[in-house]
Amino acid sequence: MNKVIKILAIESSCDETAAAVIAASDNKLEILSNVVASQIDLHQKYGGVYPELASRTHAEQIIQVIEEGLDKSQNRMASDICDPTTKFIGLPESSKLDLKEAIAKIDAIAVTYGPGLIGSLVVGLAAAKTLAYVFDKPILPINHWEGHIYSNFVQVDGKRPEFPSLILTVSGGHTNIILMKDHGEYEILGQTLDDAAGEAFDKVARLLRLGYPGGPAISAAAEKFCNGKSKEVLKQLLNDTKFILPRPMINSGDFNFSFSGLKTAVLYKVRALGEMSMDEELIMAYAFQEAITDTLIIKIKQAIKKYRPKSICLTGGVSANKVLREKFTELGNSLDYQPTIHIPQFNLTTDNAAMISVAGYYNFISDKAKKWYDVCVAPNTELK
Ligand code: KG4
Ligand code: ZN
Repeated sequence: MNKVIKILAIESSCDETAAAVIAASDNKLEILSNVVASQIDLHQKYGGVYPELASRTHAEQIIQVIEEGLDKSQNRMASDICDPTTKFIGLPESSKLDLKEAIAKIDAIAVTYGPGLIGSLVVGLAAAKTLAYVFDKPILPINHWEGHIYSNFVQVDGKRPEFPSLILTVSGGHTNIILMKDHGEYEILGQTLDDAAGEAFDKVARLLRLGYPGGPAISAAAEKFCNGKSKEVLKQLLNDTKFILPRPMINSGDFNFSFSGLKTAVLYKVRALGEMSMDEELIMAYAFQEAITDTLIIKIKQAIKKYRPKSICLTGGVSANKVLREKFTELGNSLDYQPTIHIPQFNLTTDNAAMISVAGYYNFISDKAKKWYDVCVAPNTELK
């Protein structure tokens, strides 16, 4: 199909209210707008996402976020082309958005239906269903994990993953190794048995009093610690028993993960250290980041050896982690064959609607569009 398809997408599964528009055809995919209203500031004082507050805030913001997504997609500047992601600010007074006219140009509405927080999902889905009903548009219900996977199908450098692809998804709510055999065809090879990788980052950051969200906080602390130290010095420092942490499940013989023991190991080390100095807190953050990224890389390497995929992809909020991105690239380049390596643009790593619209496009061309009354939320759904 070489016709250009325009998809409006809505994402509200956790604590980001997001809307995006893409224009896609067989050989080109453009993100026309990608608006994210983050609630991080609101949840910070609770040290994690407070679900009731998240859904209330989605309800307050969703219409303006969608309007801004549509408005930006029509008034895109040439300078926005590489990175159209914008923080939600609301429509400028000069906006001449005509909702009816803007939606008329949209072929279908993609929306995250699960997994996620039920109260949050309901807001996005209700908005999408209302638009679909009023303007008679088809709906594309998108699994949130699938959205993360498709963040790698935005072609910045002209290459899309090839099949079979092996995908490491690492987020606040999930950690999986997935074999993607074709568009929409997935086999879950492994998953976390307890905490997700992002959840472990968040919990350890809380233990170390580094703030929320934990991933960026740990990453910044570790970077501060490493600054100016050679690899040898860092290796030596990590060899101190005070900071030695396990790499869980690396010999389990399967592709599952378990991070709650790693978090507990940090807790015991922190207790043993007593009142920690600033330096000790930073080295612990670094030791944890090394342990969790090593574990993820060791496990995906085992899966690559078994399945020898044509492409390897990293996705999800934790794929924003610089060290993980580096280790993933190093791994891809050190294999005895050369699969293509895919890591999402930084602005598409954490939750956003552009990734949902890309998944929406591929669902649309596979005839998976539905009527608004055939779609409902599924907070605990898995990728099928
Ligand atoms: O994909 P995402 O935005 O939401 C879920 O689907 O869960 O992922 C959020 C997670 C949080 O746990 C956050 O701490 C983590 O991604 N994260 C990071 C980094 N940036 C965000 N983890 C490690 N390093 C980062 N730089
Ligand atoms: Zn996510």
